[in-house]
Amino acid sequence: MRKKIIAANWKMNMTQGESDSFLETFLLEIGDEKRVDIVLVPPFTALARVSDGLSKVQNIKLGAQNMHWEKSGAFTGEISAEMLRELFVRFVVLGHSERRSLFGETDEIVNKKTKAALEASLKPIVCIGETLAERDGGQVEQVLERQLRGSLAGLSPQQLDDTVIAYEPVWAIGTGRTASPAQAQEAHAFIRGILAAMSDNATAEKIRIQYGGSVKPANTAELLGQADIDGALVGGASLDPRGFTEIIKQACTLLG
Ligand code: 13P
Repeated sequence: MRKKIIAANWKMNMTQGESDSFLETFLLEIGDEKRVDIVLVPPFTALARVSDGLSKVQNIKLGAQNMHWEKSGAFTGEISAEMLRELFVRFVVLGHSERRSLFGETDEIVNKKTKAALEASLKPIVCIGETLAERDGGQVEQVLERQLRGSLAGLSPQQLDDTVIAYEPVWAIGTGRTASPAQAQEAHAFIRGILAAMSDNATAEKIRIQYGGSVKPANTAELLGQADIDGALVGGASLDPRGFTEIIKQACTLLG
């Protein structure tokens, strides 16, 4: 059984003060829930603060939204894996569609970052997903296969096992328009098939594939109830500590 993983991608939201308020409510609400993996992904400027806030709890992990693939050097504005590790960051979101479309990240760049993250013992959450034009043009499978093979090129089965995939259809991000459970399941099953072709069936069965795109409490259970949907990468709805708690509780109801 793959353990479900629910992550809060705060994007460019949450000052340190706002992170404090979030944690104050969230830690009370969530208690010691550990039936699913829980990850908070603040902006860089709030990482240290949230890391401190989580220092006494075991069940909530810290993630970052991006990193550079080099270890150090003249890369103004960038952050290395080691800098993240120092703050007890465990996960790093890579190749989010906003990074791909607004900041020119290619599969090749995502691949370099993924390898660097794994070498530094960070678990990458590698994002893939088609645009609406690509879906309407019947190119979903082609796009997903290209992004997977490009972003994960050269990874060993063990490294693939340490990687989380996030399927985030671009047309569902921040739009309120969620993929139907059937649409999402179809994409997730296809992704798992490609992962099997890139490694082997046993490895592909272990890799967790999150869904992202307008996840909210009301649609969590039906999405995460699908056979190949192993969690959620939540944007907007993760900014509210009670709403995010409810998403986690909904995921847990599936576990009986
Ligand atoms: P929303 O949940 O706001 O649609 O964002 C999804 C996302 O991009 C998470 O990484």
